[in-house]
Amino acid sequence: MTEMLRAPAEVKYAEELDWLESVDDSPKPFSWRLSPKMVRLFILGSERADGLDREIGQKWYGDRSFVERSIVTLASDRGLLLIGDPGTGKSWLAELLAAAICRNSTLVVQGTAGTTEDHIKYSWNVSMVIARGQSRESMIPSPIMTAMEKGVIGRFEELTRSTSDVQDALISILSEKYVSIPELDDDNIVYAQPGFSIIATANSRDRGVNDLSSALKRRFNFVRIPVVTNKKAEAEIVRFRTVELLRRHQIELEVPPTLLDILLQSFADLRAAADAATSDDEKLESALSTAEQIGVLEDAILHSQFFGDRTLRAGTLASSLVGSLARRSPEDLAILNKYWHGVVEPRSKNDGGEWPEFLDGGKQTIDTLS
Ligand SMILES: Nc1ncnc2c1ncn2[C@@H]1O[C@H](COP(=O)(O)OP(=O)(O)OP(=O)(O)O)[C@@H](O)[C@H]1O
Ligand SMILES: [Mg+2]
Repeated sequence: MTEMLRAPAEVKYAEELDWLESVDDSPKPFSWRLSPKMVRLFILGSERADGLDREIGQKWYGDRSFVERSIVTLASDRGLLLIGDPGTGKSWLAELLAAAICRNSTLVVQGTAGTTEDHIKYSWNVSMVIARGQSRESMIPSPIMTAMEKGVIGRFEELTRSTSDVQDALISILSEKYVSIPELDDDNIVYAQPGFSIIATANSRDRGVNDLSSALKRRFNFVRIPVVTNKKAEAEIVRFRTVELLRRHQIELEVPPTLLDILLQSFADLRAAADAATSDDEKLESALSTAEQIGVLEDAILHSQFFGDRTLRAGTLASSLVGSLARRSPEDLAILNKYWHGVVEPRSKNDGGEWPEFLDGGKQTIDTLS
């Protein structure tokens, strides 16, 4: 297999998916590669009660009801819309669902203000049209159309960022389940094969930009993904991503558990402060999501690997945290400064451990950036 910077889930977990498919004897909807229970198990990991001969690791962390509702939706007539704050794992869950159900998570359309109807239907290969005229051969199907033809899942990222024309085109795809190609005289309808469905994601902070029409809303089941605030679950996610990161970069570096605790604690403190804030100036611009936490840790790990002594230190973690979260100067820096003096300093006095080094590292970075 060729090297990839980031393999899609169906490639990364190919061996595991093959194995699950081989032991799965339950009924499967349409042309699904796995039964609904196996899809859930692939995503949430196995438990002893499942009685499998091998352990399947958890890949997405969150309430199982979200995963179950998503799976049920995909077997129904409606599309699935995963909606939530930035960095809550919506795209990752969409990828895992598509990988488990149809082994193809890469038929993706990215919603932007510039997304057009062509991006979700089809366009033309102009030089072929000139040479041979318009035909099915000179047509370039969109990822969504390809998903329809193959009876697999098409993904639409950031649905709410696209304009209402695009959203309207999606309504007809989701209700009629075919796309007509008026430019052609015959063979001019592409029908969706059984198994076709759409997983869209939307960022709740973007809502209002292009609010979904009620006609489109009716064609989707909404699954709202909350920010993970459960510390244990969050620690699991961060650990899972860290192991993966180290493997991807082939880094052998020790990440002391006490430092993970400090990272989690800092984010919990900063979120509490954001909740208590009365104006936006008192809130960090960052949503303080789990994904952001992973970003802070990734920075710190790479920094230690490149410039440090291959052990993650509290000072490096602090400086990566400040560096990542101080986006607006002076507002964000002032908030972090207040946090460092009001919370980290007392913790460092009372708890000791790695906190004093964390305190110093953060103070220095705040000074440098101010
Ligand atoms: N609940 C979770 N379980 C596992 N990984 C998670 C979870 N939440 C976040 N992550 C990790 O955080 C990273 C960002 O998640 P993802 O891109 O899926 O977020 P998103 O909700 O789509 O954000 P955005 O709205 O900004 O697109 C991913 O690498 C993902 O693995
Ligand atoms: Mg996303």
